[in-house]
Amino acid sequence: MNFKETLQKKTKEAEEIVLQYLPKEEGFAAQMAQALNYNMTAPGKRLRPVLMMEAYRMYQGEGMLVHPFMAAMEMIHTHSLIHDDLPALDNDDYRRGRKTTHKVYGEAMAVLCGDTLLNYAYETAFLAFDMDREGKRTARALQILGKKAGLYGMLGGQSVDVMNDGKPLSRQMLDYIYENKTSALIEGSLMIGAVLANASAEEVDRMEQAGRYLGLAFQIQDDILDVTGTKEELGKPIRSDEKNEKTTYVSLEGIEKAREEAEKLTGKAQKLLTGNHFLQELLAYLMNRKK
Ligand code: IPE
Ligand code: IPE
Ligand code: MG
Ligand code: MG
Ligand code: MG
Repeated sequence: MNFKETLQKKTKEAEEIVLQYLPKEEGFAAQMAQALNYNMTAPGKRLRPVLMMEAYRMYQGEGMLVHPFMAAMEMIHTHSLIHDDLPALDNDDYRRGRKTTHKVYGEAMAVLCGDTLLNYAYETAFLAFDMDREGKRTARALQILGKKAGLYGMLGGQSVDVMNDGKPLSRQMLDYIYENKTSALIEGSLMIGAVLANASAEEVDRMEQAGRYLGLAFQIQDDILDVTGTKEELGKPIRSDEKNEKTTYVSLEGIEKAREEAEKLTGKAQKLLTGNHFLQELLAYLMNRKK
């Protein structure tokens, strides 16, 4: 199997696991479950659950303990997208090739849908205790999940991001935003996979470091695609950053410099992942992604 086929297979596998945990659309709140599923079944890359599964296997993790965490991470990520697209934030109309939640269900439901999905993510992750008698690994993984999603992670980054629309930013502040809004969930994915597989503290730290570089490179590439991509391929609008007057690596340094930076960061992440050929190839592939 070549790399692309392997990636497709792993993505499908991760997606099937994630979809198993979705709620039934029934009862008085059926429409909320439907809104949640509308987002979760839309064609995302499933990068975070793929990374988590790969880290789990890399450290000889066995069984299904990682499954609820893969689903939870994809849910937290998807919640971040629902809220990121709201009129009060980036105000975008398309996501994963579909109309955004507020366009279909209205703004009030979209706000609640993001909240519900975030909470549902933790409900899902807690299911891991049923498979982990002792519960130590699950408890540690939950600490990481909570921290990387919250004030000291993705949501902290998103808050500084939206507060600074229309303002010039120092490189230092831009790094803070990227490391949190984007790297944090990627770091968490790699770390949780390792923790659940009983990797050592040193190995978990290495995963965090690799996730940081990968997340930075991934966000820079996202900024480049916001300028050079197409709505059809991306499944989301282009020029969103310009519309919101965001300072990005691209606006700060230009596309060429941004690309060089992303390549450098990818190289650093790859170095930390020696021993996992698939992940190294995945990082190279992401540098040339079109979506
Ligand atoms: C989009 O993430 C938001 C960023 C952090 C850049 P992805 O590019 O992973 O989005 P999906 O999951 O494939 O839709
Ligand atoms: C947001 O970055 C990252 C999130 C935490 C959602 P962007 O605002 O650039 O993500 P896209 O381009 O809308 O996917
Ligand atoms: Mg945004
Ligand atoms: Mg956005
Ligand atoms: Mg973007």
